[in-house]
Amino acid sequence: RGKRAFIAGVADDNGYGWAIAKSLAAAGAEILVGTWVPALNIFESSLRRGKFDESRILPDGSLMEITKVYPMDAVYDCPEDVPEDVKTNKRYSGSSNWTVQELVESVKKDFGSIDILVHSLANGPEVSKPLLETSRNGYLAALSASSYSFISILKHFLPIMNPGGASISLTYIASERIIPGYGGGMSSAKAALESDTRVLAFEAGRKHKVRVNTISAGPLRSRAAKAIGFIDMMIDYSLANAPLQKELSAEEVGNAAAFLASPLASAVTGAVVYVDNGLNAMGVGV
Ligand code: NAI
Repeated sequence: RGKRAFIAGVADDNGYGWAIAKSLAAAGAEILVGTWVPALNIFESSLRRGKFDESRILPDGSLMEITKVYPMDAVYDCPEDVPEDVKTNKRYSGSSNWTVQELVESVKKDFGSIDILVHSLANGPEVSKPLLETSRNGYLAALSASSYSFISILKHFLPIMNPGGASISLTYIASERIIPGYGGGMSSAKAALESDTRVLAFEAGRKHKVRVNTISAGPLRSRAAKAIGFIDMMIDYSLANAPLQKELSAEEVGNAAAFLASPLASAVTGAVVYVDNGLNAMGVGV
């Protein structure tokens, strides 16, 4: 049987989640995605109308099939956690079962189990503010959406993950080096995500034989990155300074994720894997 993958954080064809879905599909996996509730309608209608057909083309010429799109909001673990204003918000009230617990129950009911779990989502409402100007709420919101969200989805999916399965998240070098402009506690959130990758690798490995790794990716012009505002500068900086002087494609990150999810990486867990044209290894700009 082919592997089944759930990719959380796909809402268009520009981000890392989409590229990872494609690489996994090209390797023969069945693809389920989780889409942020407020972005669900546009994503599903664009899919239906064929807007992504060109980006769905796999190396063998066939089109990537997404077996099912699930609404999700990774900052809520169960219905009791959802505040009234969100419940009644019209962008949310049209969908159901989108808390993490309900989402996993739905996947279990529909498919029974998964093999691969991908976390490709982040959110920091105050990302454009320096850390010194970040509010407590902004900081905690960044950690909730970008770090705890991984703990939560892994915790809920683990009981339905087949032994030998793998999980992958996406991180950024701002966790360990100073990247001015990546504010609002997002640098802290990525540091937490990387530390959690090690602890969760131990816990999920011992208990469920599931591997946990994170990819520290170079800059990509995704929707989320454009919202931060400095992505073009980061891409130019990397082009000028990285050992490999080429623009990083989302597909390169997708392929690394497919490797990490595969039996080829059966002894790799708890790792931060750099897929950034080698920029992380530089000590100075040149
Ligand atoms: P993206 O915009 O394609 O993906 C982010 C996704 O998160 C979006 O689909 C958004 O709808 C979703 N999302 C936000 N809040 C959510 C919530 N509460 N529940 C569920 N989904 C939610 O952008 P990108 O850049 O591909 O981001 C994917 C991952 O890659 C993120 O973890 C990001 O930090 C990481 N990354 C991105 C880099 C870049 O230069 N684009 C560099 C290094 C890491």
